[in-house]
Amino acid sequence: MNENGEAKTGKGICLSRLITINDHLRLARLQKKEINFKIVVIGDVGVGKTSIIQRYTSAQFSSTHKATLGADFAVKTLEWDEVTRVNLHLWDVCGQARFGSLTSVFYRHTAAAVLVFDLTRPETYNNIVKWLKDLRQKVQLPGGLRIPIVLFANKGDISTETLPPQIDDFCKENDILYWFITSAKSNIQIDEAMIKLANAAMRNHENLQVPLLTDDVIKLSEETVDSQTQRNWKPCAFV
Ligand code: GTP
Ligand code: MG
Repeated sequence: MNENGEAKTGKGICLSRLITINDHLRLARLQKKEINFKIVVIGDVGVGKTSIIQRYTSAQFSSTHKATLGADFAVKTLEWDEVTRVNLHLWDVCGQARFGSLTSVFYRHTAAAVLVFDLTRPETYNNIVKWLKDLRQKVQLPGGLRIPIVLFANKGDISTETLPPQIDDFCKENDILYWFITSAKSNIQIDEAMIKLANAAMRNHENLQVPLLTDDVIKLSEETVDSQTQRNWKPCAFV
């Protein structure tokens, strides 16, 4: 045993050495300023919320529908510039949750949102109104400012003929920044859309001092951060 009570094995690594390595790793990560935005991804059951998040954070797609249980999140890290790193915490939730209504706890600290409907099921576009109303009611930035929102017309790889003709007006009337025809399957327009949304969240943060995710929320993700992206599963207690 050494003076710290650690067993000497001759080779391998002891606890004190591990702490030193962790300190170095932490310092390396600290060199850039980290900004964390929470982005909620909402819409009806099966529209492709989880698939969009998986495509964006892990470059993966699965054709089987495994309904999301409760809520969870994944993180996408963007090297914003030489001194700034932006972590997008993408929150996923079961589309069945109270039919278009989520608790305020789910929305806490939300900086931006993605509304998703399915181009192959027109009723999911009609329900966007409910999701939007719920979101606007429960998420307000300081001074009553609205968060930036983008609208995804997903499954664009199957058909775009069903695109609602009034979508442009709908977005203008409801202060939705942009709409996109997306496909999680064929990786269409998801990166472009997320960059626009991150830019809008960044503008709010810089110009209006919008608060970011707090330390206690960030700690959830730090346990396992060892790559550009990660996924955390959370129970559905608050949905
Ligand atoms: P819930 O968690 O139940 O609310 O559903 P969700 O919105 O997370 O949907 P999910 O991502 O699980 O996708 C539902 C089904 O649609 C799955 O079978 C996916 O493979 C399929 N899907 C999702 N996105 C696309 C897409 O862009 N194109 C096609 N063709 N299928 C997709
Ligand atoms: Mg899901």
